[in-house]
Amino acid sequence: MSDIAVISGSSNLPLSYTIARALGVDLTPTEIRTFPDNEKYVRIDGDVSGKHVVIVQSMAFKPDVYLIETLLLASAAKDAGARSVTVAAAYFPYARQDERFKPGEPISVAVVADLLTAAGVNNLITVDVHRHRVLDFEKIFRGKWLDVSVMPYLASYAKNAGLVDEETFIIGPDSEAIQWAKIAAESVGVRNYGALRKKRLGDTEVTVSGELDLRNRNVFIVDDIISTGGTIVEASRTIRDLGGRLVGVACAHGLFVNDALYKLYREGIYNVFSSDTVPNPTTRVSSAQALSKGILEIIK
Ligand code: R5P
Repeated sequence: MSDIAVISGSSNLPLSYTIARALGVDLTPTEIRTFPDNEKYVRIDGDVSGKHVVIVQSMAFKPDVYLIETLLLASAAKDAGARSVTVAAAYFPYARQDERFKPGEPISVAVVADLLTAAGVNNLITVDVHRHRVLDFEKIFRGKWLDVSVMPYLASYAKNAGLVDEETFIIGPDSEAIQWAKIAAESVGVRNYGALRKKRLGDTEVTVSGELDLRNRNVFIVDDIISTGGTIVEASRTIRDLGGRLVGVACAHGLFVNDALYKLYREGIYNVFSSDTVPNPTTRVSSAQALSKGILEIIK
């Protein structure tokens, strides 16, 4: 009998199910509902005593609701005698508020990390988590942390689809994204990778510039998140100005808020895909394998 119990939050049942299957267990049943006044109720309907409990949750779009649910599930698991509690956060919320950009702001990502610890979470797994100012989550989360990547899966999908070959230039739209460009490039044997420079002017406005020599090169963009699509639109224009041909775009987390996807299509960017951390019309690869491997590694 396995000593792992996988619990699904209400955000991404298919992903939780795939992870449970990869780990060779059934999902532990739960009751999760909302009281008439909008407060959350959770109950673990299975024996998790002595087990490594894994809570799979993707905290996009309703981050506050999913976060509270995760905290309640973690606390319930701990109270029920779990040996350890791991949160597999397919999408980790508030990661972009990782600095006090203006006086009076909180460092939201650190507050979220503290809440997880307070609820009894021992281990945290993230997927290509936004890491700009906070590079090491173990500085803000008082437990074990592991960031797994779906970039190799996205890159291999792009290669199999004929979008990427050895001569393609893989690019991140800002300096932070070079880490994803590197992983993607190396995983499919692409030599050339690099990053552009981005300046954020507001929630939806950015400027992107760069000095790379992209003349007559096929260029493929990778990033952690596509939200409003503003970054990709500006990056695609910069790539064109630098003489490159944009052949496709992939991201780990496709939020595509409002008309973001159409914004990309209107710009002539059609080959857009993403993973299932946030299921959306462009989802083509699963994060389940990366997460399951990460779970086995972190609970060792
Ligand atoms: C921020 O630095 C992230 O890495 C993404 O580039 C950003 O979140 C994308 O946002 P948007 O699609 O709204 O430009």
